[in-house]
Amino acid sequence: MLSEISKHNFPRPFLKWAGGKSRLIQQYFNYFPIDFKNYYEPFLGGGAVFFHLLHHKISKAILTDINAELITTYRCVRDNVEELINLLKEHEIQHSKDYYYRMRTTIESNELKKAARLIYLNKTCFNGLYRENSKGEFNVPIGRYKKPNICDLSNLRLASTALQSAEIEVRSFEEVLNYGKNKDFVYFDPPYYPVSSTSNFTSYSRYAFDENEQCRLRDVFVELAERGVKVMLSNSDTSFIRNLYKDFHIYTISAGRAINSNAKKRGKINELLVTSYFIKDYC
Ligand SMILES: C[S@@+](CC[C@H](N)C(=O)[O-])C[C@H]1O[C@@H](n2cnc3c(N)ncnc32)[C@H](O)[C@@H]1O
Repeated sequence: MLSEISKHNFPRPFLKWAGGKSRLIQQYFNYFPIDFKNYYEPFLGGGAVFFHLLHHKISKAILTDINAELITTYRCVRDNVEELINLLKEHEIQHSKDYYYRMRTTIESNELKKAARLIYLNKTCFNGLYRENSKGEFNVPIGRYKKPNICDLSNLRLASTALQSAEIEVRSFEEVLNYGKNKDFVYFDPPYYPVSSTSNFTSYSRYAFDENEQCRLRDVFVELAERGVKVMLSNSDTSFIRNLYKDFHIYTISAGRAINSNAKKRGKINELLVTSYFIKDYC
């Protein structure tokens, strides 16, 4: 898969995604399994862990998410990157406040245009936050960027090369049970369990992720672990999550992230990494 990507020229995530792991990836380094067969990422989002793992050897990646527009975008990057780049260049030329709000309500007719619209809105919207209302309409206001990098040519081409042999599908997380086998590696990065009643951002789309979903995910984690799949999961540092995964290895990661909407009360918080496998060098 990666023979065309030079050692020093790895792609980065081409989308900014709420809850994305790019800033934490250096801290995750020691927790990945040393070797594994297939790699599964069932809550793909911006795919920070997939892009990081390209530095290692992945024989096959299976990348899935419940968000159909997101998956369409990854497929277009994989299959039609040059046509996508041409459409993004057009968005770049036309970008303005009026144009942004017009695109926000536009329903595109084909997959490539849908993908270009998603990347355009993602690069120009407030904080790269993917949020839909109950009708499934993207409703984030424009961000304050002087010159947003709407069409990052070289990164899109590198990402396309990296995705060539990846399987990319719309799936809910539990479907990984139909595929995950002994010695595979599954990384789960679900919408987090809220740390407080004021931080209840658990809905990246019209699909909510409540306590029942967190419990269903734990059950999937347990079943995979029993099969000998190496499983890793990120979530909030809360007693609810600690209790759900108390039979596994739980590590604390410093998130360096503010969670309180009141700037004066903001402080750095911790997150959890849970693994089904033992990490030898952890101290
Ligand atoms: C925290 S984000 C993942 C961020 C990603 N790891 C990154 O680095 O950008 C969570 C993702 O889970 C997806 N999601 C929510 N509910 C889901 C479900 N039931 N099955 C699969 N994916 C789901 C959302 O669409 C979102 O992309």
